[in-house]
Amino acid sequence: MSKFLITGGAGFIGGNFLHIMVNNYPEDQYVCIDALTYAGNIETLEPIMNKNNFKFIHENICNREAIFKIFEEEHFDYVINFAAESHVDRSIENPGIFLNTNILGTQTLMDACRKYGIKRYHQVSTDEVYGDLPLDRPDLFFTEDTPINTSSPYSASKASADLLVQAYHRTFGLPITISRCSNNYGPYHFPEKLIPLIIKKALANEQLPIYGNGQNVRDWLHVYDHCTAIDLIVRKGKNGEVYNIGGHNEKTNLEVVKTILKELGKPESLITYVKDRAGHDLRYAIDPSKLMNELGWKPKYTFETGIGPTIQWNLENQKWINNILSGEYIRFMNDNYKNK
Ligand code: NAD
Ligand code: TYD
Repeated sequence: MSKFLITGGAGFIGGNFLHIMVNNYPEDQYVCIDALTYAGNIETLEPIMNKNNFKFIHENICNREAIFKIFEEEHFDYVINFAAESHVDRSIENPGIFLNTNILGTQTLMDACRKYGIKRYHQVSTDEVYGDLPLDRPDLFFTEDTPINTSSPYSASKASADLLVQAYHRTFGLPITISRCSNNYGPYHFPEKLIPLIIKKALANEQLPIYGNGQNVRDWLHVYDHCTAIDLIVRKGKNGEVYNIGGHNEKTNLEVVKTILKELGKPESLITYVKDRAGHDLRYAIDPSKLMNELGWKPKYTFETGIGPTIQWNLENQKWINNILSGEYIRFMNDNYKNK
């Protein structure tokens, strides 16, 4: 029996991770800490809330005193840090909160790990720490050795946290792993992000805002595959190592939007080109061979097999989506698209 701390579990990826792990490992204990920011939704955890091996604690990872107290009481074996401010557009609007949560929150968790002892601290990071690749070099991919070269306050904060995690490993001997995944999609995806946003707007026959010319490339991985990769890395990965996670599903934003429109039977005339995002990264593309060769990970979904069930989930879970559309959501949407 092992005890896991999962931070940010009321968010998109942490929530999916908990759904899978709490059911797959009934002998292990899962404690979720989440501050329930605009992106955190307690309803996401409803299916597992009453399970014997799950417990939810409403707390902020930056609250040092509270975090230390939880560590003292719970005796975690593993800590997996999903908690973050995660939306690039919001980081352009307000960088400060990204530095607090993504960097200082990580430090607080690792200090607690040092004080109370753990078997492994895992940092859920992003391929965005590598910056971007040119559109005219399809032969280039991000490997674990690609230099960090960030573009947005979001990616800079995630890269800073990664460096701090590596420093705690080298200086203090903290047992760590880091994973850097490409863009995710799937159930419980917050409707500000591209794929759920386009599904929501297309269903309402609203204009679909495409930044710039729509030729930016993202490498889309189903969230289920991200979760199985993290599980494998935490249990079998080598102490101190970084693992890239991706499934070679590169698509331009325009291709993604057109695929969704086709599946929903909606017209391409809904597509509207709007002002580009400042500093907009051109292309992300992961080389996942280390994870595949060393740990035997294989993704279950391609974009083509994963997007249909994702659209279906959005159709069947309108209540979950509508409950999110709060005052803060409306404020961000109005501000973000006002000048575009
Ligand atoms: P999300 O925004 O959907 O969820 C983040 C969760 O963290 C929310 O539940 C929020 O309430 C919680 N949180 C935020 N600040 C907190 C704080 N100070 N204390 C405690 N909880 C806090 O994000 P996501 O898309 O699920 O991403 C999870 C992790 O995966 C992040 O670290 C992100 O950088 C990384 N990641 C995301 C993607 C992607 O495509 N979404 C890809 C690669 C890596
Ligand atoms: P997003 O889901 O915000 O993820 P990230 O910026 O972390 O990759 O955006 C995915 C891509 O979609 C990105 O190139 C920006 C673009 N995009 C739009 O064109 N329109 C939108 O309204 C949004 C939210 C994103």
